[in-house]
Amino acid sequence: MAQMTDEDILTQIQDADRAHHLHPFTDPGALRKAPPFVIEHAEGCYITGQNIRLLDAMAGLGCVNVGYGRREIANAAADAMERLAYYHSFAAVSNPYAGPLAAKIAEYAPAHMNKVFFANSGSEANETLIKLVRLYWARKGEDKKRIIISRDYAYHGSTIATTLLNGNKAMLDDFGLKAGKDVIHAMAPFWYRLGGDMSPEEFGLHAARDLEAKILEAGPENVAAFWGEPIQGTLGAVVPPTTYWPEVERICRKYDVLLVADEVVTGFGRTGNWFAQETLGFKADMMALAKGLSSAYLPISAAVISDEIANVIEGREAVLQHGFTTSGHPVTAAVALKNIEILENEGLVTQIANDTGPYFARALKSLEDHPLVGEARVSGLMAGIELAKNKETREQYPLEAAICEHVGQAALMRGLIVRPVGNVLVLCPPFILNHGEIDFIAKTLREALDDIQTQLG
Ligand SMILES: Cc1ncc(COP(=O)(O)O)c(C=O)c1O
Repeated sequence: MAQMTDEDILTQIQDADRAHHLHPFTDPGALRKAPPFVIEHAEGCYITGQNIRLLDAMAGLGCVNVGYGRREIANAAADAMERLAYYHSFAAVSNPYAGPLAAKIAEYAPAHMNKVFFANSGSEANETLIKLVRLYWARKGEDKKRIIISRDYAYHGSTIATTLLNGNKAMLDDFGLKAGKDVIHAMAPFWYRLGGDMSPEEFGLHAARDLEAKILEAGPENVAAFWGEPIQGTLGAVVPPTTYWPEVERICRKYDVLLVADEVVTGFGRTGNWFAQETLGFKADMMALAKGLSSAYLPISAAVISDEIANVIEGREAVLQHGFTTSGHPVTAAVALKNIEILENEGLVTQIANDTGPYFARALKSLEDHPLVGEARVSGLMAGIELAKNKETREQYPLEAAICEHVGQAALMRGLIVRPVGNVLVLCPPFILNHGEIDFIAKTLREALDDIQTQLG
């Protein structure tokens, strides 16, 4: 029998995928038109597939923070798997990795957060926190406090409860979901789109006070928590004005509303501090962590709670009626520990704060002189390049024109992956990105923008 060529093997993989793989967040029409792009290998900041090598300025989905192909993580996984492939952590059982990982997270978390619950995804970490918020208020005898306020355009996950918190109508409608009376949405701190004539600082206070208005409307005695991503990644890396988070914290304290930070994207160094709460100047009561916890080498997430909340929840001798088969899995915990060790040994978070972050910001800000670019927002190694039809009025291109998609495609053809989100190009590169790679990103984006500018005439 003739030996299969590489091309035959690729076709076989693609055929199997098209026939049987239901893809997340994918229009099946795209797979009917063309086979999936199969990524076969990745190293450092680069992914390779079908003989194409691309600089991945999205680190997958903003998660492969220590870069691809780390042998030490593979070894840590193999060692843990041989030693203890699995055991659960229900009913007061533990393993050599889960406790040390929880302690390591507590070491870097804000000083008042010291208890960690493990799950498998960012969605599950948020879902866990939703239940812990309810449990906390119930144990305090405040059963009425059930309403959660999140924000327009939020993204907290794909489970049913997290979908209800999201600010994306299509995600609700497709599944017959309605946010209902227990979820309210406040204004997003998106100065570029919503700020009008206000300065960013004025608008930051204005957006925070929309939260206050929503709390008063619902009645503070009914509001359990406010939920927010420190920087709204899926909205286009929206870095809020500096006035926003401190005011949100003040309002939450005033009305006895828990403050929950969804640090799924920003946690573990992306903004140049271990957590974006430090970068943006606020302290939450709870936080959700995922992606950067293991650099997505294996799925693991964490719901972290303050001492005050832990004391209330653990203050009663009753089983916590929540958990996953793989909560605190020994192998994923070993991988996360090794990932954090790499961040520490290579000083990657400090490097973002002192070196690559400012260099990245300068490189991307230089694109603001381009006719298509309205604003380049950067925090650490997270950025959103907002396109504008009219730079003066901040008018957007109609989304149907897909200008941003075209720029993203033009960048891809030049070897660069960025993520078009509406009218924003989002970048969340690996932390090991060097100056040469940052220069390449800026140069490639400029060329891609020029291409589309020429097409627009
Ligand atoms: C801020 C935020 N929260 C939660 C999630 C959900 O995480 P996961 O996809 O791991 O469930 C995401 C995913 O991108 C996210 O960006």
